[in-house]
Amino acid sequence: MQTITELALPYLPMEEASFAENPWPGLEAARRQHPWLSRCAFGYAVHQYDAMRDLLYLDRSLTGAYEDVVDAMEAHGTPWGRFQLESLLASSGESHKRIRAVLAPAFTPQQANRHRPLMRKVISDLLDEWVPKGAFDFEEFASYFPITVMCSLIGAPPEVIPRLRSSLEAFGLSMSMDRAFLPNLVEATETLDAFVQDLVAERRGNRRAKGKEDLLEILVSTQESGGLSERELYDLLIFLFVAGYDTSKNALTLMMDALIDRPDIYRRCAEDIDYCRKVVEESFRFLTTATIPRRVTRDITYRDVLIPEGTVIFFPVSIAGRDATAIEEADSFDPDREQSKKHLAFGMGVHICLGQFIARAQIEEGLHLIAQRIRNPKRAGPSSWRPFFGVWGLKGLPIEFDPAPALETVD
Ligand code: HEM
Repeated sequence: MQTITELALPYLPMEEASFAENPWPGLEAARRQHPWLSRCAFGYAVHQYDAMRDLLYLDRSLTGAYEDVVDAMEAHGTPWGRFQLESLLASSGESHKRIRAVLAPAFTPQQANRHRPLMRKVISDLLDEWVPKGAFDFEEFASYFPITVMCSLIGAPPEVIPRLRSSLEAFGLSMSMDRAFLPNLVEATETLDAFVQDLVAERRGNRRAKGKEDLLEILVSTQESGGLSERELYDLLIFLFVAGYDTSKNALTLMMDALIDRPDIYRRCAEDIDYCRKVVEESFRFLTTATIPRRVTRDITYRDVLIPEGTVIFFPVSIAGRDATAIEEADSFDPDREQSKKHLAFGMGVHICLGQFIARAQIEEGLHLIAQRIRNPKRAGPSSWRPFFGVWGLKGLPIEFDPAPALETVD
């Protein structure tokens, strides 16, 4: 057995813009040198699918590495730093369980399905507004979709969206590990905090009747009955707006980017919602957004390597589904493949994405209607890439297309 520090490991340059633009040569080189592990800025990176899945399962030996992230950003004492250290992702044990239990009933697959008509209505209204243009930035268009759905689910008026969008954009770079973003992150945290405090104050003056409760009502009532502190209530609301924004928008944009090159698949999505489910799942495998940071809380031995307490490990689940050692024909986009659910897009273990059923439902419904109304999409300009650390994805996706009416009426 060897200790992790004694291994001759490749270096995965995840902090470099060139890696974010094209991670594949770097990953291939790393995988040639070591089957599952690299060094990277701020710690180690696991670059193999099975190793990511196995290690992320070891919840009792891992915690979110948010202390390390806040250290690296030199952000202790800032509102953003405080939020990172106290958010749901940073919590563990009983306190994580308690907060997750408050949210869980609102995030079941059944609840997500109940919201499908709302999702259809939101995307349909957006398409009515944007499709007549014949050309636009798809990423910008997509940025209005999950946040409008989130506002409706929580119980916030959609008029707040233009005001929130720039803060959510800024906050999306939270895990990018780049200190240059800190002033924007602090400002975004302050804006979002003031927004959720106003939202709660308004709700306290205007309660929802029994049987008509939305998520905000449930959270405010839980706080009043002692299930959440006032600060936890605000942080949870900030977290929900943030968690579903960048991830969903970037996943939708990455999926559109992949489908522009696969017109047959895209055309079928307009007609067949069941096929959309397969395309969305394949898209989560093909390329998604997240890199998960963890700190080892007690020594782990994995595949004969000792990973001591205190080691910081990053899990780039965004590219896990393209690992040819675990997935057949990993580079081909095939919605009919048997292994389409073999991906880690939503993480693994106790922090596995609580919004995954909502995310799936809204991207499926979105894709079905987008493919009807935006016919023959083509790229109309260059895109660039977001930082790979944190929430990765395309920055801009200019498209042109043939506008078309919906194939079915959306009520
Ligand atoms: C395509 C869209 C999405 C992706 C790729 C995604 C990805 C992830 C990942 C990878 C994690 C685990 C992070 C970790 O282990 O440290 C996570 C956690 C979480 N996500 Fe998502 N997410 C998406 C959409 C959403 C949506 C729409 C919501 C809310 C409506 C949401 C709410 C959450 C929550 C609450 C957690 C934290 C769970 C916990 O700490 O117990 N996510 N997400």
